[in-house]
Amino acid sequence: MTTFGFIGTGHMGSMLVRKFIETGAISANEITVSNRTREKADQLAANLGVGCKDNRDVVRLSDVVFLCIRPREVRDVLMELHDLLTPEKLLVSVAGDISLKNLYSQCSARVARAFPSMASESLMGVTLLALGDNVTETDKATIMSIFGALGHPVEVKEDHFEVLADLTSCGPGYIAALMQEFALAASWRGIPRNVTEELVKETLAGTARLMESENFGDLIACVATKGGITEEGVKVIREDAPQMFNRLFQATKEKHNAVKKLIADQSMKE
Ligand SMILES: NC(=O)c1ccc[n+]([C@@H]2O[C@H](COP(=O)([O-])OP(=O)(O)OC[C@H]3O[C@@H](n4cnc5c(N)ncnc54)[C@H](OP(=O)(O)O)[C@@H]3O)[C@@H](O)[C@H]2O)c1
Repeated sequence: MTTFGFIGTGHMGSMLVRKFIETGAISANEITVSNRTREKADQLAANLGVGCKDNRDVVRLSDVVFLCIRPREVRDVLMELHDLLTPEKLLVSVAGDISLKNLYSQCSARVARAFPSMASESLMGVTLLALGDNVTETDKATIMSIFGALGHPVEVKEDHFEVLADLTSCGPGYIAALMQEFALAASWRGIPRNVTEELVKETLAGTARLMESENFGDLIACVATKGGITEEGVKVIREDAPQMFNRLFQATKEKHNAVKKLIADQSMKE
């Protein structure tokens, strides 16, 4: 039996534990969790029937350890666990901006990065994966299989992680923000906001279903018939959106750089 530990039961850690159990990817009796605020982990354990321990015991009890804490917290936790994260353990970090190189330098476990999406809540969406050189074929099969239960795991070049995470992991937030603005602009035309938001939500859900079998171009061509109304709207989007999305990628890159600087400064202080 492979055993799994989760350090950090915040938004992502608790979602992963809950969904892995719900889908049957991992059994509750194979899981142990820990969290800085112990009551939060106790609550999750009581609800899902998993074990609850401190960080060190989670590592002792687990073959695969998921690190579900914020990037700035990683260094201290890895220092706390350094002697226990041996080559017999597989460490899967979901922390953004903590590179495989960072992980190698702080422990001797086999290491991988996973960047899931809150879309996994509905068992859809993408989990980005970057696997360390010391990961075995069995590790890869385990990681693919459990994240496969929550949607679509995709192994990518680690260099592409940040930009792709904008698409896959931040994506649900961006799409929601964009659709909220779409509904808001309609409500400026005298229609109550709750009505416009509800209609946009329904349309978004229907479009997502259509996208399962259509590509973007075909769907646009299907709706935006030549000389019609939609064609005018699509023209506006094509004029204005490139600049907006370019700014979005620039803004998130700056934020990534700031977090990476903070992480580098932490290691300088060691
Ligand atoms: N949210 C997303 O959509 C998403 C997507 C992809 C990747 N991620 C990554 O997932 C990680 C967690 O994000 P999140 O949204 O779940 O953040 P979060 O809700 O703030 O959860 C972080 C959890 O880590 C716990 N923690 C902090 N220090 C700890 C320690 N020393 N020992 C044990 N537990 C500790 C916190 O405990 P307390 O209860 O004491 O605060 C909190 O429950 C981040 O690195 C993020 O980059 C998130």
